[in-house]
Amino acid sequence: MHDEQVTDFEPADETALSALPHSGEHEVETTLRPRKLAEFIGQPRVREQLELVLASARKRGVPPDHVLLSGPPGLGKTSLAMIIAAELDATLRVTSGPALERAGDLAAMLSNLAEGDVLFIDEIHRIARPAEEMLYLAMEDFRVDVVVGKGPGATSIPLEIAPFTLVGATTRSGSLTGPLRDRFGFTGQMEFYHPEELELVVGRAATILDITVDEDAGAEIARRSRGTPRIANRLLRRVRDYAEVRANGEASKEVVRAALEVYDVDELGLDRLDRAVLSALVRSFGGGPVGVSTLAVAVGEEPSTVEEVCEPYLVRAGMLARTPRGRVATATAWEHLGLRPPAGTAAEPSLFD
Ligand SMILES: Nc1ncnc2c1ncn2[C@@H]1O[C@H](COP(=O)(O)OP(=O)(O)O)[C@@H](O)[C@H]1O
Ligand SMILES: [Mg+2]
Repeated sequence: MHDEQVTDFEPADETALSALPHSGEHEVETTLRPRKLAEFIGQPRVREQLELVLASARKRGVPPDHVLLSGPPGLGKTSLAMIIAAELDATLRVTSGPALERAGDLAAMLSNLAEGDVLFIDEIHRIARPAEEMLYLAMEDFRVDVVVGKGPGATSIPLEIAPFTLVGATTRSGSLTGPLRDRFGFTGQMEFYHPEELELVVGRAATILDITVDEDAGAEIARRSRGTPRIANRLLRRVRDYAEVRANGEASKEVVRAALEVYDVDELGLDRLDRAVLSALVRSFGGGPVGVSTLAVAVGEEPSTVEEVCEPYLVRAGMLARTPRGRVATATAWEHLGLRPPAGTAAEPSLFD
């Protein structure tokens, strides 16, 4: 099965802290994916809601409502899509928004579905308009209208499709059109994971990969993983490499620190670009407010990179606030850079509280 993630930031950013999968990680990610809802760590709200949706559908013997999973990369959307199919004992069909360029691509996919199948559309916000419009009717009435011919002679042939469940995943629910969003019966909003939850993710992966990490080491990896299981699992493997070469294979807290120093991952999981953004915000703009484009120019990056790669985590870590007048550094940001925040600097809630 393939579940490649296509994003707007190509070529893929392969730094240790990228939340997107690296090109060689497909196999290990597959090995580490939770298979059942009970194995899925964290996201208590989404998990409980999904449990109810699935249990009720099973009881009534009908395919459950269509499910939209929304949130930053690496938080478990693809894993949950697979879990939904597994929990329903259903066949999973996988495609992605960018692969559905023409309505015909989607019609082919839909007409091949069997009753009860789960159709997973990754990056669903990137679906082309004609395919999206076809999807409306398919989601609502399990029917599509296939247009044959062109101009005045064109006819539309209705085509029945088997009742199915659509699972859509998106990193940008904001760019989904209203009509598409409205046709999902359930939306799971995925949140960044707390360090204690990531400790469980690391512990689970260490067992599967047969890596020895003590408790302190696991906690240290978790704290530096930007609230993201994909990153936690990757840092664990980098620590394993380091431990094998320089520390007899045993990962202690000191080994974690030394290993992650090599990969430029700081104590709160910030990388070079995050620190550059914070440093510009604090040192060049007095802590803000400053517009995101100005900030991006100051660090030599595209505004979209700053906005979509750096900011979501900086906001969740309580270091940066987005205000109507621009970006503002919080007290935590000043302190993280070893500086004293000016009087009146706001503190923001953080994943680490
Ligand atoms: N809740 C979780 N528990 C354990 N591992 C997880 C969890 N969520 C994600 N992972 C791990 O992170 C990796 C990336 O998850 P994935 O579902 O591909 O994220 P997304 O589709 O949101 O980018 C998976 O291979 C899996 O190993
Ligand atoms: Mg995915």
